[in-house]
Amino acid sequence: MPGKANSHSKEFRPSYGPWALVAGASEGLGAAYAEALARRGLDLVLVARRLELLQQLAARLTAQYDISVRLLPIDLSQPEAVNQIARETQSVELGLLVYNAAFSAVGPFFEHPLDDHLKEVDTNVRPVLGLVDTFGRRMLAAGHGGIILMTSLSAFQGSAYLSTYSATKAFNIVLAEGLWEEWRRSGVDVLACIAGAIRTPNYLASSPKRTGNISDATQEPEAVVAEALAALGHRPTVIPGQLNRLTSFVMRRLLSRRAAVRIMGEVLRGMYVHEESKSPEVEA
Ligand SMILES: NC(=O)c1ccc[n+]([C@@H]2O[C@H](COP(=O)([O-])OP(=O)(O)OC[C@H]3O[C@@H](n4cnc5c(N)ncnc54)[C@H](OP(=O)(O)O)[C@@H]3O)[C@@H](O)[C@H]2O)c1
Repeated sequence: MPGKANSHSKEFRPSYGPWALVAGASEGLGAAYAEALARRGLDLVLVARRLELLQQLAARLTAQYDISVRLLPIDLSQPEAVNQIARETQSVELGLLVYNAAFSAVGPFFEHPLDDHLKEVDTNVRPVLGLVDTFGRRMLAAGHGGIILMTSLSAFQGSAYLSTYSATKAFNIVLAEGLWEEWRRSGVDVLACIAGAIRTPNYLASSPKRTGNISDATQEPEAVVAEALAALGHRPTVIPGQLNRLTSFVMRRLLSRRAAVRIMGEVLRGMYVHEESKSPEVEA
């Protein structure tokens, strides 16, 4: 279609197309993935709960790029979600899966009911496995494809006030690394994108207090997506942002794990814990 842009389609679409699915696509980082993939000429399946946001995004992308978009308004934390997505995408040749959706219960562990912690598992772990199983199988059969799992620097060690979230994100790093090694000779590239703070609506809604140190630094979603897509097919993990790479080098290579856990806890306490709930004691 004249006037529409597909700037990088040559190298990207044969390896990771013709369709990509972004799980958690309605805003922020997920929408930035959708836009970057549309620019590379991929047709898109966009999944999130808020249909209206998905429709607005789809309208914008189809006006700008010569691509097709399908919308799946689905709650990924529900047990039927993966089967539903598998059914709805049966006729689609899907070469890229981006798992971006997440749920995080921020704050002291017992300020959240167990259901919140389980919802972190149901959003950040179970559907990842389900979609990797569904689409990984199809990609291996096709002999090409890519999977990007969005995860977090908080997953490199236990992270106080994000304990369950960071544990679910550690699962994603280790899963991606294992599958990268297992599948890389089959033409299927797996990547864990291990991000620091990103200026997404979700992050801003968590109202982190400014601490006056490097934990205040954030990245724009578009910058994170650009680094992730550039790393896909070249390595199993990427840490977007120079400052994040430096911090993670210090935390993982120069400090003991115990020290890293303590420092992370101090930083997160400063960002997310109100004075009155700083005591870890819990009534028996
Ligand atoms: N933001 C940060 O600072 C940061 C830092 C490190 C890592 N990360 C990782 O980056 C990813 C994105 O971060 P983000 O949440 O801040 O930004 P986001 O991409 O702006 O928002 C999350 C997206 O996932 C969708 N989503 C959430 N729960 C869902 C569910 N149950 N079913 C279907 N869709 C769902 C949301 O849409 P609906 O609400 O419409 O469903 C939204 O489109 C996450 O994996 C996160 O762990 C973020």
